[in-house]
Formats: sequence, C-alpha cells, structure tokens
Amino acid sequence: MNKKLILMVLTIILTLGIAVLAIDSRLKTVYYTVENEHESEKMRIALITDLHSCTYGGESQSDLLEAVRAENPDLVLFGGDIFDDDPRMKDENAITVLKALGSEYECYYVSGNHEVWTERLDEYKEIVRSCGVTVLDGQHTKMAISAVSGTPDIYGFDDPEAYDDFEEQLAHIRQTVQNYHFEESFNILLTHRPEKFEHYSELGFDLVLCGHAHGGQWRIPGVLNGLYVPDQGLFPEYAGGLYEKDGTTMIVSRGLAKESTYIPRIFNRPELVIIDIV
Ligand SMILES: [Fe+2]
Repeated sequence: MNKKLILMVLTIILTLGIAVLAIDSRLKTVYYTVENEHESEKMRIALITDLHSCTYGGESQSDLLEAVRAENPDLVLFGGDIFDDDPRMKDENAITVLKALGSEYECYYVSGNHEVWTERLDEYKEIVRSCGVTVLDGQHTKMAISAVSGTPDIYGFDDPEAYDDFEEQLAHIRQTVQNYHFEESFNILLTHRPEKFEHYSELGFDLVLCGHAHGGQWRIPGVLNGLYVPDQGLFPEYAGGLYEKDGTTMIVSRGLAKESTYIPRIFNRPELVIIDIV
C-alpha cells in the first residue's frame, strides 16, 4: 500500500469518527453544584426540559427513566416543552415519563412555548396534573419533600407566549414575589426561557432553572457554545450551561429534543440535568 492510499484511508476513518461523535444523540447526564447559604436545605434536583415527546429507549422511555432513577433525586422539575405542537410527535411519549416520575418523585412542571402553541394548554395542564405532577402557572409553593428538611421555595410561571408579552410575564413574577421574604429561604424560579436572566436576577432569585435553547443546536466543544437559539439569535449568550449574576445562578438545560427537530444536533448530546444544592 503506498503512502497516499494510507493517508486517504486514515483521513476517511478520522472524518467518519468525527461525524459519528458529532451526531451522537445518546442521552447523557450532566451535573452542577450550587452553593446554598441556608444550612439545612441540601437537595438533589433532576431537571427535564424540551422533551418534545421524543423517545429514549422506545415507547417505555426506559433510558430516560432509568437515568433519572440512577441519580436518586429529591425532586424532578419539568421545565417546559415536554409536549410538542407537531402532530408527528405522540403525546403518549411525554405522558409515559410524567406518569412514571409523577408516581415516584415530587414533581413540578411549567409550560413551554410549544405547549402554548398547541392552543390546548389547559388540556395539557390537566394531563400533567393527572400524572401526579404539580403545575406551576403563577404560584409560589413550599416544597414538601419528606427527605429534606427546610425545603426551598419554588416559583413557576407559564411561558411568556401564554401572556401578552414578556413584560406581562415579568410583571406577574414581580407581583408574586413581592409578597414573600426572599432572605428567609432558598428561592428557585422554574421558567422555560433563559433570555431574561438579568430581570430574574434583579428580582433576587437564588437559582433559575430553564431550557428552551436546545444547546444552540450546533456546538463546537471548547470553541462555540451554541450556534443559534430562538429569541436570542446567532451566537447566543444563554445556549446551555451555568451562568451567574449578582448572586443569582441560572442553569440552562440543553434539553432532550431530537427526532422532533428537523436539523440534527451537532456535538450537542441531549441531556438530563442533575443539580446538587449543597
Ligand atoms: Fe421552547
């Protein structure tokens, strides 16, 4: 075999290897740790966002469910776009996950833009409740987790698409939080969208958990953290990861959308997010 041929074969193997890595859409679990000055409130959260009724391990959703169970979370949060407005995507795939986790863990849900776009948001909320998952659409609640003493306060709101605009959602959040004393406990905001981080930070939340960005769909590890995110545009600031501002931490899940999206994820594996509050 001459040198040219060897070089050509190696180049093809390398290119194929990179291509396989780039389009790898196997589920992965990513971990974050958030410090909490309130001594007694240590807990583990599983964050599931942007499932868009996709499948992980067939219709039984066994891969996703086993990944959650393996982490033994104190609670599970659903950060919107769990269902999809595209008729190709089967609601049953989302319901299987909601039902299984709703019967095993304390669970909370907020809506995402795709659920609002179905124009059947109230119906979806009823389905979510029937799975044993608490819907947060403007309320504040004290978590009631038996394993954790001094539990955090959690606030959750519908996607801004359910309001006239973002300003109306922000006004609703502001109105809700002004009645509570933030300094007394660890306060979590569960909301689908990350792009208004500075406003969430101004309001004084300790932790903001969201999705929507899908990791910017295409990434180049170490070089580009996301190419494009709706509502943020090209080279988005909040495509996925952990962000901090004036005492507020925001974690943006890269989500679980795969076959629901026509454009493949590049170097952007779907993720289950685990957050340890320590
Ligand atoms: Fe979304």
